Amino acid sequence: MKAAGFGAGKVILLGEHAVVYGYPAIAGALPLGVYAHMEAAERCALQTPGNLDEKQRALLQQAFGRAAEFAAWPKVLLRLEASLPMGAGLGSSAAVSVACAKALALAAFPHETREAQLEKAAEMAWRMEQVFHGSPSGVDNATSLRETLLWFCQGKVETLSCPTPLKILIAMAGQRSPTQSTVAQLRERQKKWPGHHKRLFEEIGRCTEEARGAIEAGDLALLGELMNVNQGLLAAMQLDSEKLIQKIHRLRGLGALGAKLTGAGGDGGAVVGLFEAPEGPMETLRAEGVECFACQLAGPRSL
Ligand code: PMV
Repeated sequence: MKAAGFGAGKVILLGEHAVVYGYPAIAGALPLGVYAHMEAAERCALQTPGNLDEKQRALLQQAFGRAAEFAAWPKVLLRLEASLPMGAGLGSSAAVSVACAKALALAAFPHETREAQLEKAAEMAWRMEQVFHGSPSGVDNATSLRETLLWFCQGKVETLSCPTPLKILIAMAGQRSPTQSTVAQLRERQKKWPGHHKRLFEEIGRCTEEARGAIEAGDLALLGELMNVNQGLLAAMQLDSEKLIQKIHRLRGLGALGAKLTGAGGDGGAVVGLFEAPEGPMETLRAEGVECFACQLAGPRSL
């Protein structure tokens, strides 16, 4: 059965955290994500997945309620199915929000154009993401909704293109704390020491701008170098951990042009490596028991 809504997962190549403070980020959409299946029902409801605890279930229902209210509670039952690792820094809450919002838009505004439905879905997904994250930058939602490689700065979005295939390998580095708490802890340190945090954010912003030029010129070596520098700056803000560092160095050891944490980081989550050919390293990591996957974010695709 075709899902009524799909929300793509996302990977941030550069600029996470700084994006919350108004600096740019570059993010790409993953082929993995969240599907919302929909059927007619007595009342509007979301069937929550069985693997959630009480708190997560309540949060999801609260978020869904905010979107359903906007859509005037269409009489449908939504059921979620995920192909994306959850809570790992790959934008799973945005993917849930976008999947639900697209399905609700289809149910509540069936006669509107596809563009109008997407606009309403964007508003609903944003309402949901605010429940999950408090004050998100919006980069996760924008990437999940548009399903493309993009430049995001203060709510403005531009699609990026690359003349060469831009391929990555994502590896999982264990459980981590929720995004909201990592973002809040950084906010505390930023308030205490605003000066040097400003300098670090500005430098991340410069790396991200330079990375945009590298992507548009197809200069993967420079892009990789800038991802490594971005990782150093995230580490300077105490957003890394032993688990993340170990995986980042493993990716570099396997020939990554650049590797860094992606998403909120902290005590675990996901790392991303830029590779010309990620398939071999992916097989090696899988043989070592590491959960990982490769994909192409932009550029020409071979048949
Ligand atoms: O870890 P994730 O997938 O929730 O990504 C968070 C990205 C941040 O920049 C840390 C927060 C934000 O709102 O952009």
